[in-house]
Amino acid sequence: MQSVAHDLSDSEISSLAVFFSTQHPPRVQGEHPPPPALVMAGKELAELGAAPDVPACFSCHAADGKGNGARYPSIAGEPVAFVINRLHEFQARAKAGTPSPGTMTAVAATLNERQIEEAAAYLSVIDP
Ligand code: HEC
Repeated sequence: MQSVAHDLSDSEISSLAVFFSTQHPPRVQGEHPPPPALVMAGKELAELGAAPDVPACFSCHAADGKGNGARYPSIAGEPVAFVINRLHEFQARAKAGTPSPGTMTAVAATLNERQIEEAAAYLSVIDP
């Protein structure tokens, strides 16, 4: 990947970013649909957040997780494992140093394991 990225100009990178951010690939069908209770809890978390400090996912990622501009990626219709892995990566980053407010790293630091599973379950069943 590095050898490919190395040869890209800034304007090529911008064009690619715009291209991929406007793609809406079909949802990946998991072998096992997530349990409905987990999906419902994830919907509430995504739309409303959770006490005491988890912000609503869609407050940044826009309604239904469709994404908002270049900064906030679409998170709808992603496979469960992808979301769980990404959130664990952000949490690992948060442990390495105090995250800046308003970043995904800061948000991930507020999530417990159950909430991560809930969010991943819900995001996996909504259309990208
Ligand atoms: C304060 C704004 C904000 C909130 C609230 C927020 N996010 Fe994010 N999120 C971001 C930003 C900014 C990024 C891109 C960060 C990056 O790639 O380093 C991101 C990235 C992500 C990604 C990675 C997407 C990808 O394609 O790699 C996932 C998954 C994600 N967020 C899930 C969530 C979930 C689940 C919630 C709710 C619990 C949430 N986010 C709440 C700002 C937010």
